[in-house]
Amino acid sequence: MNWTLLEDAESVAQTTCQRIIDAAREAIAQRGRFSLVLAGGRTPQRSYELLAQQESDWSHWQLYFGDERCLPADHTERNSLMVTQSLSSKVPIPADQIHSIPAELGAERAAERYAEELKAALPFDLVLLGLGEDGHTASLFPGHIHPAGPLVVPVHNAPKPPPDRVSLSAATLGNCRQLIFVVTGTGKQLAVRRWRQGEDLPASRITPSGRREILIDRAALP
Ligand code: 6PG
Repeated sequence: MNWTLLEDAESVAQTTCQRIIDAAREAIAQRGRFSLVLAGGRTPQRSYELLAQQESDWSHWQLYFGDERCLPADHTERNSLMVTQSLSSKVPIPADQIHSIPAELGAERAAERYAEELKAALPFDLVLLGLGEDGHTASLFPGHIHPAGPLVVPVHNAPKPPPDRVSLSAATLGNCRQLIFVVTGTGKQLAVRRWRQGEDLPASRITPSGRREILIDRAALP
């Protein structure tokens, strides 16, 4: 596991943006397409805004989501809306290559449908993830047990609102060539300490076959 310590949240956003652009260039050169799984929450938003200012072969990008909140499709708290506003409305990625999780259908139906959509996508080129203050990642929360089989899982009683969510499973998130966690701010110190001490947290259960890096700022380092 590779921890990269950066000065502040802005440096984390810039480095994340650069990692994504580099991964896209490599994937498109080698395989003619780039599949990216986006993290939700607030931390990655600035990286997406920076990304929207870059040049890339956008027509070869396929965007997926690591998790989604069960709210109406246009709700301000949807991860998909944050991505539309910060990135996908600003770059020419074809609409049918932006694979939102249909979480407005309810967790079970959305998880089933999204699993179908993912089958052709694996392995992903790059997966981005955030870290919650309790060590959760995507919508995989401590103490929640999910069956091992499904690619995508319905989530209920999440401690971070809203309680109903949909998440890629730990195995699906780990099915990638490259994985990057973005972690900033003092609120994440406790989770980082527990993670570094080897505790069994959802974040520590994502074990990709490819590269794994944590981009962290000074404020989040305990
Ligand atoms: C979500 C997430 C979640 C998030 C972390 C960190 O939908 O809430 O995908 O896993 O990444 O909770 O969130 P912040 O970046 O807002 O701290």
